[in-house]
Amino acid sequence: MPAESPANYQVALDGPAASGKSTVARLLAARLGGHYINTGDMYRALTWFAQRRGIDPETSPDEVARLLPECDVRYRIEDGLPRLYLNGAPVPAAEIRAAAVSAKVSHVARIPAVREWMLDRQRGCADLGIVIMEGRDIGTVIFPNARFKFCVTASPLERARRRLAQPGETPPGATLESIARDIAERDRIDSTRAVAPLRQAPDATRIDTDGMTAEEVADHIAAIILHP
Ligand code: CDP
Repeated sequence: MPAESPANYQVALDGPAASGKSTVARLLAARLGGHYINTGDMYRALTWFAQRRGIDPETSPDEVARLLPECDVRYRIEDGLPRLYLNGAPVPAAEIRAAAVSAKVSHVARIPAVREWMLDRQRGCADLGIVIMEGRDIGTVIFPNARFKFCVTASPLERARRRLAQPGETPPGATLESIARDIAERDRIDSTRAVAPLRQAPDATRIDTDGMTAEEVADHIAAIILHP
C-alpha cells in the first residue's frame, strides 16, 4: 500500500453516476494543491478503444480482456496537471464522455481482468503526492488506507438534471426520464458486479449534495480535510 506523509496522501471520492464528483474533485484539487485523478475516464478510455476495434463490451467481454496486453492507459503530468494517455496519445476527452461510451462503460468495468489491470495503474498515482481520486471503489479497494474518504451522492432526479446540463454527454433527444433510466442502469450494474462493486466504505463520510453547488460541496470537504 502506498506510503502516506503530510505531503503525500490520498482523498477518495466515490459515488454513483452524475453525482457531481468530477467537478468537486477538480475544485478540491485546486484548494488542496493536489492532483485530480478521474478513474472513470480510465474505464471510459478502455471502452472507447474497444469500441473503435468494433468490440461490443456487453456481448464480448472476453474480447475486451484480450485487448489489455496491447493497451496502456495512464496519467502523465503535463504543465503540472495530470493528462490521460492511451498508448502514448492523449485521450480525446469529448469522445470518451460521449453517450455511446457511457452506455457500455459499466460493462467494461465489471470485467474482473479489467479491474485487476487497473489496480496497479491507479495505485501508482499515489506517487504524484496529494491525490484526489474519484471513482466507485477508491475508498474500498484502491486506497483502503486513504486518509480521507467521501461518498458523494445526490437524488436520482438531481443527478439526471446535472447530466442533462452537460453538453455532449447525452444522446440526441434525451429527456430527464431517459437520462434517469440510463444512469439508474449504470448504477445497477456498478453496484451489483462481483468485483469491487460501488459501495460506501464504512469509514467514508457521506455527503448528500442535493441543493448544494459544487463550490459548496468542495468548501465543505476542504474544511473537513484542512480542519479535521
Ligand atoms: O462521470 P460519471 O458519473 O458518468 O461516471 P464516471 O466516473 O465517468 O465512470 C464511468 C463508469 O466507469 C462507471 O459507471 C463505472 O462503471 C466505471 N467505474 C468503475 O467501475 N470504477 C471506478 N473507480 C470508476 C469508474
